[in-house]
Amino acid sequence: MSELRLLPIIENRHGNRSMMTCKFRCNNACDHPEPNQSGNPYIGDVLASAISRRAMLSGSAAGAAALVVTGAGGSSAAAATSGAAALRRPARISELAFSPVAPNKRDNITVPQGFRYDVVARWGDPVVAGARRFNPYRQSPESQAGQFGYNCDYVGFLSLDDDRALLAVNHEYTDEVLMFPEGYYDEDEIKRIAMQAHGMSVIEIRRRGRDGGWKQVKARQARSNRRITVTTPMHFTGPAAGDARLRTRADQRGRVVLGSLNNCAGGMTPWGTALSGEENFNGYFDKSGEIDPRYAASYARYGIAGTGRGWADVDDRFDLSVEPHEPFRFGYIVEVDLMDPDSTPRKLTMLGRLKHEGATCSISRDGRAVVYMGDDEKGDYVYKFVSRDKFKRGRGPAARRHNLRLLDAGTLYVARFTGDGTEDGVFDGSGFWIPLTNDRESYVDGWSVADVLINTRLAADQVAPTRMDRPEDVERNPVTGKVYCALTNNDGRGTKQPVDEANPLASSMTRSALGAPLESKSGNRNGYVLELTETNNDGEAESFRWNLFLVCGDPEAPETYFGGFPKDQVSPISCPDNVAFDNLGNLWISTDGNQLGSNDGMFAVPTEGSDRGRVQQFLTVPLGAETCGPYVTRDDLSVFVAVQHPGEIDGATFENPASTWPHSDPFPRPSVVCAYRSAPRDKQDEQS
Ligand code: FEO
Ligand code: CA
Ligand code: CA
Repeated sequence: MSELRLLPIIENRHGNRSMMTCKFRCNNACDHPEPNQSGNPYIGDVLASAISRRAMLSGSAAGAAALVVTGAGGSSAAAATSGAAALRRPARISELAFSPVAPNKRDNITVPQGFRYDVVARWGDPVVAGARRFNPYRQSPESQAGQFGYNCDYVGFLSLDDDRALLAVNHEYTDEVLMFPEGYYDEDEIKRIAMQAHGMSVIEIRRRGRDGGWKQVKARQARSNRRITVTTPMHFTGPAAGDARLRTRADQRGRVVLGSLNNCAGGMTPWGTALSGEENFNGYFDKSGEIDPRYAASYARYGIAGTGRGWADVDDRFDLSVEPHEPFRFGYIVEVDLMDPDSTPRKLTMLGRLKHEGATCSISRDGRAVVYMGDDEKGDYVYKFVSRDKFKRGRGPAARRHNLRLLDAGTLYVARFTGDGTEDGVFDGSGFWIPLTNDRESYVDGWSVADVLINTRLAADQVAPTRMDRPEDVERNPVTGKVYCALTNNDGRGTKQPVDEANPLASSMTRSALGAPLESKSGNRNGYVLELTETNNDGEAESFRWNLFLVCGDPEAPETYFGGFPKDQVSPISCPDNVAFDNLGNLWISTDGNQLGSNDGMFAVPTEGSDRGRVQQFLTVPLGAETCGPYVTRDDLSVFVAVQHPGEIDGATFENPASTWPHSDPFPRPSVVCAYRSAPRDKQDEQS
């Protein structure tokens, strides 16, 4: 056991993120108080004080010792469910057979030796038939509406046959400083074009040959291709559709909304639809006058402050003083039927209104749809939905109609994590899914079903869930049934939220605030991956066991933990964000905001067997970028990632870029890429 040593206090208010990313992506969330100011009783309070006394403040090795478990897969959660968690085949990282790449600051994608990568779709590439050729000096809202949008994030993959597939790609936000050359556009044009660069793209791709590479099918030949933007009509479905708070001058029935905002992560359903999370939607609303006092508390809980992007200048629905209900029409999971390019996307009110990172869908033992969701804000919650009706197999019209309504009725839950104490040497415990509402009856006293679904954060505050460190992707391992949750980081843990066993690392500020010595912890700078085992390994369960699977960071730092694997044999990893699984049940993790001096990247880690916790870095992305997506093909090792905001480094502009990746132009273009093993092996060249 290495001894705790003095750790430098690193100013990490914005992590490794540039101020540009903070401004454009999340509306400078760190400049505002955390929206979760609820006075919840903390389940972890008693434990928290115990941890703070014993581990955080003592300066002893107790904190580090608390992260040691007894060998691979040796957590009590794993032991409790080992019978249910039968693997189809052993999952060893050696089967992945790649040599991990080293951390670096290159302006390129670095893949393991023997792999290469293709750029599949770049910002501006034609998506729909007839789309205009990309010309950054002559863009218009109409041209951008036919082209691949900006800042690609989630990548969903729907196989059409052996050689063809559809990708559903989110476009989270725009960075106007990097997108537009100075002097070519007026401000209103920029706003209108940016609106069309948001949303989603659906693109058809096909295999390049037999080597694992994929490329885009030409737009005129790809009949399922579509763009979804801020002006695309969408239907509200589920119990809150039509609620008075969803009604506006333009939509007096509260049933149809134009567009989707800040589409971050997502998930595919077994019935061929893509789910897309509207995340930092709060940052798009301005105010020209007063805020409606009826909604002040709700606005505050969602961080809606009227400090938007000036879009109200070109569309006054983004002015809170003019249209106070418009923000209630964002913050949902959007479902898009990829098999029908003419279908109207649907905002699923049953899945609640949050800063939805994403939504991942699996089927319970009894056949119900189970959707896991994270609300990505420091101190916010993890959610689950279980459908009332059962999934129908098959892609016939009747099954499709049935399944397309599955997410409109069921029960929405929020998670409470209870620690069992650190004396056992593990950060672990049990938990409950606390029901908030079903489609007919709310479980929150005094709240209607629609109240819960529209003001979900405030409703959840009533039932004392556990405040987490930025819960992002939450996804079920298709092989073992365990659920993994990326908790990106939180520099406010210990000051703004108390530590508890599920969120054990306090920030450095805690120490000074408590007058404590400086030799304990550096805070949750690098994030965790939480492992959760549903009772009976069933997605419908209302209780679970949990344990911290990864405490990310520099393997040499005493607080880090890698599922029990020897720390001198793992890649450093920081700020886990999106997760995916390959067909062996290995966990793949993309990162956002690396704190360890490297570009962001993508990592693979087995969750079971003797290699459990062996984190290996698969690729790094270019300067200034974060890694999103990801998707790993089931039949071979082709890895799709979205390279979001390359070159988004403070001071960079279109004319003076910090990155020129993918090096097709003198400015950066966010793009989806596919990394794959090149063949034949003796002719491989490293792609970096
Ligand atoms: Fe858009 Fe939570 O990352
Ligand atoms: Ca414990
Ligand atoms: Ca994300």
